[in-house]
Amino acid sequence: MGLSERAFEDEAAGLPARRFAFSLLTRVLDQRVTLDEANEALASVAARMPPRDAAFARAIAYGALRHKGALEKLLGRYIKQALPAHGLAAGRVLLCGAAELMVLAGKSHAAVDGANRLAVATREAKPFKPLINAVLRRVAAEGEAAWHMMDRPRADTPDWLWRRWSAAYGEDAAHAIAEAHANPAPLDLTLRDPAGGEHWQSALGAAEILPGTLRLAAPGAVETLPGFAEGAWWVQDAAASVPARLLLDLLGGGAGKTIVDLCAAPGGKTMQLAAAGARVIAVDSSAGRLKRLAANLARTGLAAETVAADGRIWRPDAPVDAVLLDAPCSATGTIRRHPELPWIRDEGAVTRNAAAAAALLDAAFAMLKPGGVLVFAVCSLEPEEGERQMEAFLGRTPGVRLAAPDPARFGLPEAARRGGFLRLLPSFAADRGGMDGFFVAGLVKNAAMDAPFSGG
Ligand SMILES: C[S@@+](CC[C@H](N)C(=O)[O-])C[C@H]1O[C@@H](n2cnc3c(N)ncnc32)[C@H](O)[C@@H]1O
Repeated sequence: MGLSERAFEDEAAGLPARRFAFSLLTRVLDQRVTLDEANEALASVAARMPPRDAAFARAIAYGALRHKGALEKLLGRYIKQALPAHGLAAGRVLLCGAAELMVLAGKSHAAVDGANRLAVATREAKPFKPLINAVLRRVAAEGEAAWHMMDRPRADTPDWLWRRWSAAYGEDAAHAIAEAHANPAPLDLTLRDPAGGEHWQSALGAAEILPGTLRLAAPGAVETLPGFAEGAWWVQDAAASVPARLLLDLLGGGAGKTIVDLCAAPGGKTMQLAAAGARVIAVDSSAGRLKRLAANLARTGLAAETVAADGRIWRPDAPVDAVLLDAPCSATGTIRRHPELPWIRDEGAVTRNAAAAAALLDAAFAMLKPGGVLVFAVCSLEPEEGERQMEAFLGRTPGVRLAAPDPARFGLPEAARRGGFLRLLPSFAADRGGMDGFFVAGLVKNAAMDAPFSGG
């Protein structure tokens, strides 16, 4: 993780940071909220500490969640009896301490001492301080070898996800996916003007991973990077840029076209379409997320109409050239960025979102002109949200044809083509830092179709 331990041997600096890490972890696991949501809820706590301490705390919390399975397995070697129900807080202190030792490779003394102080300062964990001290000392002294011997990618993947990915892709691919989750994602930027690639590559010290998408290995704070203030780019994983690339490809460019971006916020794909010269109507049911989209448009100087509405019900005034539907999903393709997801989601999230996405798909298709293009995408690894969803749609919808994309056109590995769809896995392009998991399908409405349209 590359964080120096410097100030954290100093107890005064270390305790607030470790308490913050513990609070983040506890909020995520108890309330089943995302790390982003926990960070937002605890923003005032972070604001009261030096940025380096807050960064250290976040590194512990993210590391503890990314490697929760393996860390708990390691701790289990040194805990003779399972912790009682009232030992939940103690378990989390142990998890933070073990993450500091194994994931951040922190100094043993500072990590064990820090965990002891955290235990004393945490009412429910205090009675367990002797146990915490004894276990972490052993982890520090003997844990390294066991840590390196362990199949950590498997241990870090809950059984429900392992079963699903093994069934969908085979055990080897499931393992490669789990391995890809072991490291945080690099930072990818989509350029507003892809022709400026060379300039921004050297200004940012970045590599071009796809045409118009730059990848930074050591990003730093996004707001301080060259080009942020003038809106020359926006943050968007390379895989997340593929749905809009496919749509523009099928449409023969954006100029003069009207495109509905259904489920648009915070607007990465809206900006791609607007930058290609299209008139974009960005629809999202969340007014709060649309504010972020508006701020992104303002920063990049791009234009789009925004509509706060339920995409299952809303209709444009007239049929449109294209719809991009980036449907809500379980987001299991984004675990590299959101390592908490395996521990706060379950199979219910897959089925719940799949039902909503089916209704959105039907609505999206009804918005199209004859000959119009529909691109459907989800940042999910789950076939029910991708392949099965699309097969069901094709089965129930007359007058639609699948436009099988050629992955080479988008700089993607050949392995990305499965059936007539693009299936991107986090394990693809592993030597270049991987990519988010995505499912993308392109569809064309039969030109002879004259389906009745009810505008709104
Ligand atoms: C995967 S995110 C979209 C990301 C976005 N396309 C981008 O590239 O930045 C899914 C979005 O769907 C929105 N959403 C969920 N249900 C919706 C519905 N019924 N109608 C419209 N938007 C919806 C959520 O508010 C969320 O912003």
